[in-house]
Amino acid sequence: MNPPRKLHIKSYGCQMNVYDAQRMVDTLAPEGFVETSSVDDADLVILNTCHIREKASEKVYSELGRLRVAKDEAARHGRHMSIAVAGCVAQAEGNEIIRRAPVVDVVVGPQSYHHLPQLLARAKSHGRALETEFPVDDKFGFLAPPKPEAIRARGISSFVTVQEGCDKFCTFCVVPYTRGAEVSRPVARIVDDVLRLADNGVREITLIGQNVNAYHGEGPDGRTWSLGTLLHRLADIPGIVRLRYSTSHPRDVEESLIAAHRDLPALMPFVHLPVQSGSDRILAAMNRKHTADDYRRVIDRFRAARQDIAFSSDFIVGFPGETEEDFAATLALVRQIGYAGAYSFKYSPRPGTPAADMRETVSAGEMDERLVRLQGLIDSQQSAFNAATIGNTVDVLFERAARNPGQIVGRTAYLQPAHVMASVDIIGQVLPVAIESLERYSLLGELADPPHARPSPPAFSQMTISSQTTTGA
Ligand code: SAH
Ligand code: SF4
Ligand code: F3S
Repeated sequence: MNPPRKLHIKSYGCQMNVYDAQRMVDTLAPEGFVETSSVDDADLVILNTCHIREKASEKVYSELGRLRVAKDEAARHGRHMSIAVAGCVAQAEGNEIIRRAPVVDVVVGPQSYHHLPQLLARAKSHGRALETEFPVDDKFGFLAPPKPEAIRARGISSFVTVQEGCDKFCTFCVVPYTRGAEVSRPVARIVDDVLRLADNGVREITLIGQNVNAYHGEGPDGRTWSLGTLLHRLADIPGIVRLRYSTSHPRDVEESLIAAHRDLPALMPFVHLPVQSGSDRILAAMNRKHTADDYRRVIDRFRAARQDIAFSSDFIVGFPGETEEDFAATLALVRQIGYAGAYSFKYSPRPGTPAADMRETVSAGEMDERLVRLQGLIDSQQSAFNAATIGNTVDVLFERAARNPGQIVGRTAYLQPAHVMASVDIIGQVLPVAIESLERYSLLGELADPPHARPSPPAFSQMTISSQTTTGA
């Protein structure tokens, strides 16, 4: 038997890329590849790239420069190192990569990962292989007969793709171009994945999609199911104690999703709901198709269904035309909502998007300054949110041994890491933890109850975060 070949994958970008990296590993396992954490002893290196902002996509070329050195070094030892570029830069600029970077053997777009073994074989026999196009009926291997797009269990928490692509066309965004039109996987396929993952010890499932609440998959009853209906079905699967979903669009929050938050204790009360800006003028220029008030109303609906719900968001500062007044409206919205955390980015023009043709009006200096002010506000809200946990008892799903010997780490409902001293037996359980202190973003505490005294751990307990503590900043 041939010795195993070693595969190193470096992923950038969103959760979808993390998930895709695992799929690629699983797709290549039958070809005799095993994962390695080091580039130097790899037979195949895959860069799983992101195109969302200029900084993200330029990383590819600097990384390829480093890989050329590693590839030459391997060749000096008589070993061939193959290099593949995958992900959204591959999809957007495949031909340019082939032209600019002779070190690359294979370029493969996100919809073609199930063809990786054939592409590697083609590169071996023909030199180089490029595949960023896909037949429409075979997008992402979604609709094809069983391919290993159903990933292996890796620990307690797992992503499952339910939806791929986006039809929203926000004027700044490359995703509709790199990931294509929206496609939802049939319910039966998702349920199969989750059943299998649960059998293999997974306790928490995060349903992912570029626009996950636009999910509209074919149900077993022949009807189209919404995300809320899908969540109800998944909550019935034995072993699954926590459900999450990401990333949502404010326009697609259906009543069934709100109902799921009201009815399903397993559905975690923490929602990532990007808004991008608090100014209606900028939201219109972004083609978000909602106003700041529409967004506030969506937040209110969630809060009415589940009072302990918390939110995170994404923001862009310095979009073309953004005035100081527009930016003030964003700060006002943040103050009003009160976030548990949020990401904020400087606007980056992306080739091929409508906003790239708009005249940029915000100077680099102003953008920096707005970003600092927004991040300062968000950080203070996040700190207040985390500090509010101290002295409370909260449920934690334990995931793994921590770096410090004897410590086990898990996450709260709000994805805060929480550490306790305990035996590894608690991994996979949801247990109440009395939170004593906060170290940067990590909570430290003690198990509130000896685990053996509790017949079955509850899926959740109430933790009240008054909106005052998070909006006060
Ligand atoms: N599907 C998600 C977001 C995908 S991209 C959604 O609809 O919200 C993740 C975040 O990157 C976006 O929410 C946005 O804040 C940011 N982003 C996308 N394009 C960008 C650009 N051209 N410049 C700066 N930030 C951008
Ligand atoms: Fe991009 Fe907008 Fe689609 Fe999100 S909804 S992926 S920001 S186009
Ligand atoms: Fe980046 Fe593509 Fe995700 S552009 S954010 S990796 S969908």
